[in-house]
This record gives sequence, structure tokens and C-alpha cells, in this order.
Amino acid sequence: MYWLELAGEEDAFAAYEAATAAAGVELIAPGIARAGHAGDGVRRLAYTRAAHEAVGRTDADLDAAVALLEAAGIDREGSVAVRARNVRATTEVSTSAAERELGGVLVDRGFEVDLDDPDHVLRALFAAGDRPAHDAVAGADGESGSVCALGWVDTEAARDFSPKPTERSFFQPGSMAPIDARAYVNVAGAAPGRTLLDPMCGTGGLLVEGGRVGADLLGTDAQRKMVRGTRENLRAHGHADDGENGDSPAFEVARGDATALPIRDDAADAVAFDAPYGRQSKVARHELADLVEGALAEAARVAPRAVVVADRDWRGPAQAAGWRVDARFERRVHRSLTRHVLALRRE
Ligand SMILES: C[S@@+](CC[C@H](N)C(=O)[O-])C[C@H]1O[C@@H](n2cnc3c(N)ncnc32)[C@H](O)[C@@H]1O
Repeated sequence: MYWLELAGEEDAFAAYEAATAAAGVELIAPGIARAGHAGDGVRRLAYTRAAHEAVGRTDADLDAAVALLEAAGIDREGSVAVRARNVRATTEVSTSAAERELGGVLVDRGFEVDLDDPDHVLRALFAAGDRPAHDAVAGADGESGSVCALGWVDTEAARDFSPKPTERSFFQPGSMAPIDARAYVNVAGAAPGRTLLDPMCGTGGLLVEGGRVGADLLGTDAQRKMVRGTRENLRAHGHADDGENGDSPAFEVARGDATALPIRDDAADAVAFDAPYGRQSKVARHELADLVEGALAEAARVAPRAVVVADRDWRGPAQAAGWRVDARFERRVHRSLTRHVLALRRE
């Protein structure tokens, strides 16, 4: 069993994203989820910091955590460090006291402490409060939890997002934060060996993050300058800096209409797009509703999964286009913008 330390403030969304890299994800307390298995894909996640191999859990109480560790079997060798976190300051527990006392237990059991370069890191996550209710996320039943989750750090997310939009080679107002773009492409199913399509790619924010998780990329946009800009951004930012994904993923970006894509059936594994905001698409020829409906129908023709991000709920048109809504989230960006996120599966 694994403990996932979530990032951000929206646990249901974070847990849903984490489920693309871990099995049986279930929220147990604010900022903490349990998973039956956590794979290497955790490295790609936006809203998970790390997966920990579980030692056990108690209430958010230091004495109880110490007793748990004293009784636990520890099948490890080498140096250790303890790192504690009081998640979102939801408990009274002192993290320095927790690190000292839990470290003391490990020393008593014969381990050498090395705070700079330990072989193993024991994490103690203390959290208390309500778990959010969400249909798509197990365990999220709105109940209160008080938890200390104790576990060995197993996989840390690289969180190697692209530079913020204003610092990219090509910038236009309205681009989304890279951490969110990363989460959306993950939820869509982008991964090495898979092809991600953004049919209205704009400055390429979603595709750049798709490239950084190692997916092959297809993009279209109705505007020539966006096509050029996306290519520029993909060349400059569309792969992880450490080259871990090997060479830059393959990409093709072309001018095209999202309602009549120049792409064959089932050419992609995943679609993600950020629909134009406002009453009309910037590009003439389509009313916004016609554009989104047409794009949803085309998306269902070319891929089995999609994520649609928009300033309103396009659930009805998505269902009419042959999609099942697997999950839906409303994410507040600022006072005048809430993003509606649909995670879609082809019926
Ligand atoms: C909200 S922006 C996408 C932003 C993008 N995710 C980014 O990171 O920059 C919507 C894009 O849809 C494009 N667009 C509008 N109508 C279109 C159509 N019929 N076909 C393809 N693209 C279209 C616009 O040119 C614009 O770039």
C-alpha cells in the first residue's frame, strides 16, 4: 500500500489525476490519498508530490505515530532521514518534534541518520479535516479524517513543468498555468508511446506539457500565427530539461479547423483542448457552441479519451457527441474565471 502526498488545494481533482499513475486511489485526509499500487507514472504527475510505501497510519498524534514505528517491521538497510509535514497546517503537531522523535526510534533500531543524503526517507504526513465529496473519487465521502500517514518515499514527482507562459518563446494572453496543463494532459491519458492531440492548440500550452511527459503530439489551430507559435514553443520547451524522455517527442502541428480535422480516425490516444472563452470563437465562421460541438464530435472520431477545459459546462454537447462523462470538476482560476473540466471516455 502507498500514501500519496497531494499538492494544491483541490484534493478530488488531484486524486483523479493521480489515478492515471496509481491504482485504487482513495482520499483519506486533506492532501493525503491511499493507493494500492503506485507506478513510475507518479513522476509525471502535477498535483501529487510523492508516493510513499506505507509503514502504517494512526490518528494525527505524535505518540501514536512513534508507537506505530516502534512496532513496524523495517526491511531496509543504509542511512535514513525523517521528514514530517503538517499538511496545510491542519494539525497541532510540531514537525520538528515529529522528526526528532521518529528519528530517535530509527536510531534505537540501529539506523544511521544522514540528513543530507539519506538512502531512505521516512515521511510522516499529519493532516486533519474534511475530505471533499466527489463522485469520481473513492473514499471522498465528505467525512472528517485525522491521520498520520507514515511511509518511505518511493517515487517523487519531477514537477518539471515548462516555463510560465510569459517566459516562453511565443506568448499570447490567456494561456493556462503549466501545472494545470500538465494535469489536464495526464487526465487525458498522455504518456510515453501515446499520441496526444490538441485540435485548438493556441500557443501550445497543453502540447508542451504533453511533450514533457513523453507523448507524441498532434496539434491544429485555425490561426496561422498559433500554428507557428506552437511549433516554436514545442521546439523550445516541449521536452524535459534533463532529457529523461530521450529526444524530443515527435510532433506535427498544422493549420486546421477543429470541426473538420485533417486527421484520420483513431489517429490519437487522447485529445485535450481548451475551448475559446466568451460568447464567440475568436475565429469567425463558427458560433462558439457550433465550434465546441463540432470539435467534440471530431475528437470522438479520432481518440477514445478526451479532456475539455472551458469557461462553462459543455457536458450536454459532449454526451450528444458520443462521450461518457467520467468526471467533472469546477476549478476556480480567479474571481471572474472558473474552469469547467470534463474527463470524457468514448461510449
Ligand atoms: C483558448 S485558446 C487555446 C489556448 C491554448 N490551450 C494555449 O495554451 O494557448 C483557443 C484556440 O482555439 C483556436 N480556434 C478557434 N476556432 C478554431 C477552429 N474552428 N479550429 C481550430 N482552432 C480554433 C483559436 O485560434 C485559439 O488559439
